[in-house]
Amino acid sequence: MGLHAREHVGDDLDSTIHVGQDADKALPRFRFPDEVFTPDDAMQVIEDELMLDGNARQNLATFCQTWEEENVVALMRAGEDKNLIDKDEYPHPAEFERRCVHLLADLWNAPDAVNSVGTSAIGSSEACMLAGMAAKWRWRARRAAKGEPTDRPNLVCGPVQVVWHKFARYWDVEIREVPMAPGRTTMDPDEMLARVDENTILVVATLGVTYTGAYEDVAGLAAALDHLEETTGLDVDVHVDAASGGFVAPFCAPELPWDFRIERVRSISASGHKFGLAPLGVGWVVWRDLAHLPEDLIFHVSYLGGDMPVFQINFSRPSGQILAQYYNFIRLGRAGYAEVHGASYDTARILADGIDAIGAFELVYRPDPYDGIPAVTWRIPEGADLGFTLYDLADRLRTHGWLVPAYPLTGSLGDVTVQRILVRRDLTRDLAGALLEDLTAAMSHLGTHPQSVHMTKAESGGFNHL
Ligand SMILES: Cc1ncc(COP(=O)(O)O)c(C=O)c1O
Repeated sequence: MGLHAREHVGDDLDSTIHVGQDADKALPRFRFPDEVFTPDDAMQVIEDELMLDGNARQNLATFCQTWEEENVVALMRAGEDKNLIDKDEYPHPAEFERRCVHLLADLWNAPDAVNSVGTSAIGSSEACMLAGMAAKWRWRARRAAKGEPTDRPNLVCGPVQVVWHKFARYWDVEIREVPMAPGRTTMDPDEMLARVDENTILVVATLGVTYTGAYEDVAGLAAALDHLEETTGLDVDVHVDAASGGFVAPFCAPELPWDFRIERVRSISASGHKFGLAPLGVGWVVWRDLAHLPEDLIFHVSYLGGDMPVFQINFSRPSGQILAQYYNFIRLGRAGYAEVHGASYDTARILADGIDAIGAFELVYRPDPYDGIPAVTWRIPEGADLGFTLYDLADRLRTHGWLVPAYPLTGSLGDVTVQRILVRRDLTRDLAGALLEDLTAAMSHLGTHPQSVHMTKAESGGFNHL
C-alpha cells in the first residue's frame, strides 16, 4: 500500500495492467507478478505511465533542477554503480565530496574553510535533520555540563518548510514557529526573541522562504541574539536553511551577510539539486568548524575497509550526484553561477512586471537578488473578486501544460491564497513570454466562463480551492 492510498489499493488489489492493446499480456497491478515479462513489455508499461506526467520544464512549482548538460548525464551514469558510502573501494567520489564540502565552506565564508566540516546528504531535508541533531546534541551537552535539565528542547523559526516540523516531531523537540501575520511573511527579531529561552537548541533562519521565495534577515536575527547574550548570557545558535538561497546569494548578492561571516551562524544547509544545479538527490550541510559537530554523532565503520567516519542518516547512495555537483562547481565557478542565476532573475523580473501589468494581482514577492531567489509570488488583492480563484487559474494553466501552484499562506494569513513561479535555468525568456500569454488567455477564459462553484473558504468548510 502506498502511504496514502489504502482504500484505492484495497479496491484494486486484483486489477491488472495490459501491454499495448493485447488483452493476454497482463500483469497484476498490486500483486507481485509470477511470470517473466520481456524487457520491451516491462519498459512499455512504465513509459506509457510516465508519458502521462507533467512536463518537468513547465513545472514552475519545483525548486529542483530540470535541465542538465550532457556531461552531467554521463557522470550520473558513471557514478551509478559506485556506492558513495564505499569510500575505501571508491576513494575518488569520496574525495570529490570532500572537496565540495571545502568549496562550500569557502563559498559560505567559513572563517577557516580548511577546518570546517560537512557532508553531502540526499537533499536539504536530510541535511537539515543532521544540522538539527548536532544542535540538539550541543545544547544537551552544554546543559548537562551545568547540571541543568535537558528534557524540554525547543526550536524557534519562521514559516519553515515541512522538514523542520518533521525534525521536531521525529527528534522530540518543541517547534515554536513565528506565524505569518498581516504585513509579516518572515520571522522578525522581536517575535523570535519572544519565543527563545534557555531550552532553545536552535534558531532556524530560512534563506528563501518556501512559501514566497523571500530571504529572512539572518543578520538582523543574529544581532538580536547577540544583544540577548549581552543582556542575559543566553547564547543561542543559528542554523541557516539555505535550501535555495545558499546557491544563489553568494553569486548574485555577494554583499548580503547571511552566512558564516555572521559569527552566530553555526551551520548551513542547502540543496545541491536546486540552485546548486546538480541532478536530483544531493544536499549539503556544513558546520562552521569541527567543534560544532559533536563527536558522538559520528560513527566509525570498519566493515567497509579502513576506518570510515559516517554522519548521515542514509547509507548506500549512488555517486553520480556528487560527480555532477563537483563538475558544475569546477565548470561554472563563481562567474558561471552568477551568469546562470543572473539570467533567471532577469526572466523572473520580466514575469513579475508582466503579472503586475495585468492589473488584477498584488505581488507578494518581487524578485531581487538581495531580497530572495528568482521567483514571483502573487495574490488576488484583499476584497477583490475576479470571479475565479487562483486555484481556478492554476487549473486552467494546466491545460497549457504549465504547473503553477496555488496554495494558502500560514499563520493568520492562512486564508490568503498565493500563486508562485520559480524561475530556473531552463525557463527561457521565450518560454516566459509564452507563459504570460497563456496566463492572460486563461484569465480571459475564466472571465467568460464563470466557475460553476465559487465558494469562500468558510462556505467550503476550509477548502478554498473548490
Ligand atoms: C527552505 C527549504 N528547506 C528544506 C527543503 C527541503 O529540501 P529537499 O527537497 O532538498 O529535501 C526545501 C524544499 O523546497 C526548502 O524550500
